[in-house]
Amino acid sequence: MTPEEFRARAHELVDWMADYLEGVEQYPVKSSAAPRDIIRKLPATPPDAGEPFDNIFRDFREIVLPGMTHWQHPSFFAYFPANSSPPSVLAEMLTATLGAQCMSWATSPAATELEERMMEWLRGMIGLPDAFTGVIQDTASTATLTAILSARERDTVFLINERGFSPEMRFAVYCSTETHSSIEKAVKIAGLGKSHLRKLPVDDLYALMPRALEDAINRDRRRGYTPLCVIATLGTTGSTAVDPLPAIGAICRKHRLWLHVDAAFAGSALILPELRWMMDGIEFVDSFVFNPHKWLLTNFDCTAFFVRDVESLVRTFEILPEYLKTPEGARVNNYRDWGIQLGRRFRALKLWFVIRSYGVQGLQARLREQIAMAHRLADTIAKTPDFELLAPVPLSLVCFRYHPQGVDGETQLDSLNTQLMEQLNRSGAMYLSHTKLKGRVALRMAIAQTSVQQHHVDDAWALILRTARSLTPSN
Ligand SMILES: Cc1ncc(COP(=O)(O)O)c(C=O)c1O
Repeated sequence: MTPEEFRARAHELVDWMADYLEGVEQYPVKSSAAPRDIIRKLPATPPDAGEPFDNIFRDFREIVLPGMTHWQHPSFFAYFPANSSPPSVLAEMLTATLGAQCMSWATSPAATELEERMMEWLRGMIGLPDAFTGVIQDTASTATLTAILSARERDTVFLINERGFSPEMRFAVYCSTETHSSIEKAVKIAGLGKSHLRKLPVDDLYALMPRALEDAINRDRRRGYTPLCVIATLGTTGSTAVDPLPAIGAICRKHRLWLHVDAAFAGSALILPELRWMMDGIEFVDSFVFNPHKWLLTNFDCTAFFVRDVESLVRTFEILPEYLKTPEGARVNNYRDWGIQLGRRFRALKLWFVIRSYGVQGLQARLREQIAMAHRLADTIAKTPDFELLAPVPLSLVCFRYHPQGVDGETQLDSLNTQLMEQLNRSGAMYLSHTKLKGRVALRMAIAQTSVQQHHVDDAWALILRTARSLTPSN
């Protein structure tokens, strides 16, 4: 591709991108592709000779696009969103154009120093104490694994890194039954053993019960285990429940355990002073993760990971072969040593563009609007006969179910709600997901999409009502 052709194509694509974002509502939110529909349309082998760009772009529109679920559609209410925004996309274009691999300071000083500054900005924006230092990771899953590995190494004075596990080492890790699956994955990868992850019971609000934590730690100690770390969640995936950090933290301090906080979704909401109560007890926390790529208008991937003890983190991951040695030494951060990957994308740029474009107040205003929409929907559901809320709504996720009068069997209600969700999602007009709360199927509606407006929520609710009432409960 010549520079002239690149310029022309880039303009063409930017026009397409602007049209796409403007008209995204014309697409069905969830792709209706059946398994293998797309791969059947893709040649089994690559072309020998280069193809014209027109053909490639045509196939993008005709083959790829119908197989996409439109995460930036304002009626995308499923999962937690992967928020994006125009300034973030523009920054990603620059990142791709620069094509830098930012493993160390020397390989792009601006990328490293911008990352350092953005982590300071985010720390201040969410009210984390200055004792924390941040680094950008790809996902919360990676950040949690990084935290657990650091906890493991600090506890064993970096012995496992050196010699591997010895037979007498039996660690236990604690979380609640509502904790995200990435915690179990991290425990498995860290070699601690899935059966040594204690999933503790939750209270009526789906929050971890500190009493159960203390009991489990004492039980493990009696049985010869070494309690290693606790993962508390601010904003669980199922219902955005908030684990009580002050009580959990006091137990961690007493037993000298590493406390990691997973605030993947909810962390962005800490930019709102009125929600900072979620962070009470932060003085006990060793590491903290949240995803600006979920709820801070910064497109995937961008995870902010903060630790108190940077030295332990770096000592866990540092490796210095001859070819990576540079003369700057301790005056700079080499982020390749702050996590798993060597190669790193320049992710700080999009944060910089987003925060400067919206300003802290602009971001706060957007989140407040979405939380207000969620609360309005929750009020409506609470007042609507035949519907029930299944969890409190501290943020912008509403968990509910259809519960028509006279239908009381839990199995029947589960299948009715699954049917409702599938029908809604097939409509292409909205997209919901589900979870199980106290064993019951709950529909999850996350109102946190960048461009969602009140009328999208109202339309979605009208469709939910109509669809629910058209269903006949089966026995
Ligand atoms: C509470 C929580 N933790 C972790 C994750 C995993 O996030 P990531 O995809 O960034 O690994 C999620 C994803 O939704 C989540 O809700």
